[in-house]
Formats: sequence, structure tokens, C-alpha cells
Amino acid sequence: MFDPCNAACKPSGRNAPTSCVMVIFGGTGDLSQRKLIPALFHLIREGFLSGELRVLCVGQRPFTVDEYRDMIDKGAKGFIEPSLFDAAAWNAFVARLDYLSGIVADQNTYQRLSDRLEAMRLEEGASADRMFYLSTPPSAAPVIVEGLAAAGLVKEDLGWSRIVVEKPFGQDLDSATKLNAQIAHVCDEHQVYRIDHYLGKETVQNILVFRFGNSLFEPLWNRNHIDFVEITATETLGIGNRGRYYEEAGALRDMVTNHLLQLLSLIAMEPPIAFDADAVRDQKSQLWNSIMPMTPEQIIQRTARGQYGPGFAGGKRVLGYRDEENVAPDSRTETYAAVDFRIDNWRWAGVPFYLRTGKALAAQVTEIAIHFKHPPLALFSHIRSENDLPLHCIEPNVITLRIQPNEGITLSFGAKQPGSEMRTSRVSMDFYYHETFNERLPSAYETLLLDVMRGNATQFLRRDGVEAQWRLITPILETWKALSPPQFPNYSFGSDGPQVADALLARNGHAWTPLVPAQDKSSA
Ligand SMILES: NC(=O)c1ccc[n+]([C@@H]2O[C@H](COP(=O)([O-])OP(=O)(O)OC[C@H]3O[C@@H](n4cnc5c(N)ncnc54)[C@H](OP(=O)(O)O)[C@@H]3O)[C@@H](O)[C@H]2O)c1
Repeated sequence: MFDPCNAACKPSGRNAPTSCVMVIFGGTGDLSQRKLIPALFHLIREGFLSGELRVLCVGQRPFTVDEYRDMIDKGAKGFIEPSLFDAAAWNAFVARLDYLSGIVADQNTYQRLSDRLEAMRLEEGASADRMFYLSTPPSAAPVIVEGLAAAGLVKEDLGWSRIVVEKPFGQDLDSATKLNAQIAHVCDEHQVYRIDHYLGKETVQNILVFRFGNSLFEPLWNRNHIDFVEITATETLGIGNRGRYYEEAGALRDMVTNHLLQLLSLIAMEPPIAFDADAVRDQKSQLWNSIMPMTPEQIIQRTARGQYGPGFAGGKRVLGYRDEENVAPDSRTETYAAVDFRIDNWRWAGVPFYLRTGKALAAQVTEIAIHFKHPPLALFSHIRSENDLPLHCIEPNVITLRIQPNEGITLSFGAKQPGSEMRTSRVSMDFYYHETFNERLPSAYETLLLDVMRGNATQFLRRDGVEAQWRLITPILETWKALSPPQFPNYSFGSDGPQVADALLARNGHAWTPLVPAQDKSSA
């Protein structure tokens, strides 16, 4: 008899081969110190790296190997989770890190890298499987990929060769298409892993299990039952010392491209025919392609932007965006963006998908709220209370998928209050990851690095997906640029965002879920 569980749920396995050489370009930078190196150490401590992993950083600074190890010891050690820290294991890990100093624009660097890798393979027994992680500014990516190719390092004669490219993948459709073409010129798409760390989060991965691993929800997952969907990713902090980066990026580029459009695709895509890289990414691309790019008139109607002004945080007065370091005093850069996307397919026609993101807001929340329609008959609304006041109507059901904090899922529904009168309340069923599984959640980078080593590209962006996203975002960027300067700042630090974003939903009779700081349940 066919056993679907046996067929589909083959564990990827703690023992899947993971021996490789990981070459990090930009191994001295913030991402390497805070995320990549700690993720590798966590994977070793958790027993996931069964093979012989070697790490070689290629950096432009004239460090010796010992100086590099010292830098990592001082920098990355502070980001190791205390529950996984062990001094002897850490020292042994750091003592095996390698460093090669070289300028990325100099072809000689790649020849020396190739020689070093070959020596590691022949003399030290290192693997011929290689991961090249580009943790460098976006402008360096084409130079490095071409340098690797010219030195023969993307050939897969003896082992695999995979290139991990960090976001952002371009600044608009033109630059993304050009970057993709430059990469495609020297290596095959199956070798390219475009990383968006959001996709490595447990709760993001759980969206697919929630939708396609349960028979309860999928029949309701369409325009007949769902009224609207809210996708929220907000932060309480301002831009801090990232003014230079943020002035170029803005909220729409920084968060809506990649992160929020990824969440949208997971919530709205059709079921893939299998849980493999191409099947899942085919469905994502199909979903993005079924959203028509908006006309300038639609953009005016269906988008909102904002920029934070001064306010109070933790009882202290805090700066507005235009007063931050490296920000122009008349900056037009948005620190808040909201878009009402419509998906022009059979399942979702007419259902608004509201995406919002911003800095310096009232709460740090990343979640998706699925708002269901009212019941077809308001059975209880005619019953009056003793004072002849209408009873509370039952509010429509909402399923909330919390990405962070308090990772989990809440289903809210109406229930009768105890007593002889017919009174109703809104109650909820809650699932919290930490309460249920009582296990450490791996960081997104741990999950994704392991995926690269195992050759699983499901949670990485494919070329067509990147371009499909920019096809949606570029017209908004262009229209916003062409319009007369917005009245910025238009929301205060610590508020729920600009009024124009409320008006965006009010037009359709909807309202945003208020931003309420969550009570921490993670230690429960
Ligand atoms: N930091 C994060 O949390 C984060 C999150 C998501 C994505 N990212 C992406 O990850 C990448 C790295 O970010 P980061 O925050 O680590 O940046 P970073 O702190 O500025 O470090 C990047 C490293 O790249 C090297 N580098 C600088 N300029 C270069 C150039 N012109 N050509 C080649 N190498 C150069 C530098 O190392 P050497 O000079 O020593 O070689 C530097 O240490 C970026 O693409 C960023 O968008 C970062």
C-alpha cells in the first residue's frame, strides 16, 4: 500500500554529508562576525556537521592567519549562544580558521586561492566540495564571481562548487537583471544560492507545513472565505548608524522586496507538486507573476509611505530620521512603506494583501494575519441584552502566524460567555513553539548554511523570482520618485505609523491590527 508519509517525509538527516571547504569573502565584516561564524560553530556543537568542514576567509586586509583568528575570537565569540558555548571546542574551531589576504579586483588573488585550496585537498585531505560565500558589498559580487570562474574554481570536476550571494540582489529591475546575467555568464543557475535569511526562519518554513501538511485549512484558503490578509514586519528602533545604507535603500527596497514578498508567496502560492527546490520556486514565481505591476494611478491609490519624526522611546526623547547621522536634512527616503497588492488569479481575485513595514514604530512584530469573512448569517445579532443594547457581534475569525517574537500560531474565534444570557466573546487557541517543542530554534543562517552544504536550494531565490519581484517594486519606486516631495516626517517615533497608511485600508472598510508590544513567551 502507498504510504505517503514514507514517500514524502524522508528526513534530510543529521548525517547528510557536509564536509566541504567554505570560502568566505568579507569574513571580517559584520555579517560574518555576528551570524556566519557563530552559525558554523552552533552547527558543529549541535552535531550537524558530520564531515570535515574547513573555513577559509579571503580578505583585503593584510592580516596574518593568527591576526584573523584573534579578530574572530574577539568579535564572533560574543555572538555564540551561551547554552552552546564550550571554551575548548571554541578554541579548537578558531584554531582551524584560515585566512588569505588579497584584493578582490586582482586576478592573482583567485590564482592564489586556487593553489591554496588544491594544497588543502592534496596535503591536508580537505574536501573538493566548495562553498564560496559572498559576504561583501553588492558591487563586489560580479567581480568575485568572474575572478572565481577565470581561476577555474566554479568548475565541478572533482566536487561541487556553490556560490552564495547575499542580498540585495540589485537596486531595481535593470540592475538585478544585469547582475543575474553577469553571474549566469560564468556559472550555472544550480550553483547559485541567493540567500534571504528570512526564509531560514523556522516559523517561515512552518507556513508551508501549516498550509499543505493539514487538510483543515486549505479548503478555506481562497477568496470565498478570506476577506483580507495583513503581512507586517515592524521595528521599534530607528536606523541607528546605518544612515548611509538606508538613504540609498529605504523601507520598500530593504524589506518589501525579498522579505515581505517572500512571505506573500508562501501564504498565497498554489501547492507545489513536490517539496523540492524547483517545484516550490516554480509556484512562487507563478504567484509573483500573477500580480500585475501597478499603474502610476494605482500606485497613488494603493501605496503609502512615511518617515519618522522625533518622539519618545523608553521615556527619552529620540531623534527623527532627518536628524540621524549620514541622513540628508531634507531626505525623501521612506522609513515606512505599505502596499495593497492584488493577486490576479482564480484563487485570490479581489482579496487585498496589505504589506506594511517600518522603523521606529510602537512594536517589533513580524506576523501574517489572515482575516476570514463574516459568517453568511448574523444569527446572534438580533438578540438584545436586558438594556436593549445589541449583543456583541462575533468578530470574524483570524489566523495569525507569528514569525517573531513569540513564534507560533493563534486562531481567534467567537465563543459564548458563561451565563443565562447569550453573550459572546472573542477567544483564541494559541500554539507557541517554545512551549510545545521546548527545543532551541536554530538560527536562520544555521538552517541555510546546512541547506547549501546539502545542495538543497528550496529556501533560496532563483533568478526568475528575483526579477519577478523587481517587476512589482520598480514601478512603485519610479512613481514615488516622480511625485512631488511627500510631507515628511509624517509619523512620530514610537507610533503606529502614518495616517496615510490607515487611509489605505479604510478605503476598503479595513483596519490594521494595532501594534502592541508582545509579552515575551519565549522563555516559557
Ligand atoms: N550585516 C547584516 O546583518 C546583513 C544582513 C543581511 C544581508 N547582509 C549583506 O551581507 C553583505 C555583507 O554585509 P556586512 O554587514 O557584513 O558588511 P560589512 O560589515 O561592510 O563587511 C563586508 C566586508 O566586505 C569586505 N569589503 C568591503 N568593501 C569591499 C569591496 N569593495 N570589495 C570587496 N570586499 C569588500 C570587507 O572585508 P575586507 O576589506 O576585510 O575584505 C568587509 O569586512 C552585504 O551584501 C549585506 O547587504 C548583511
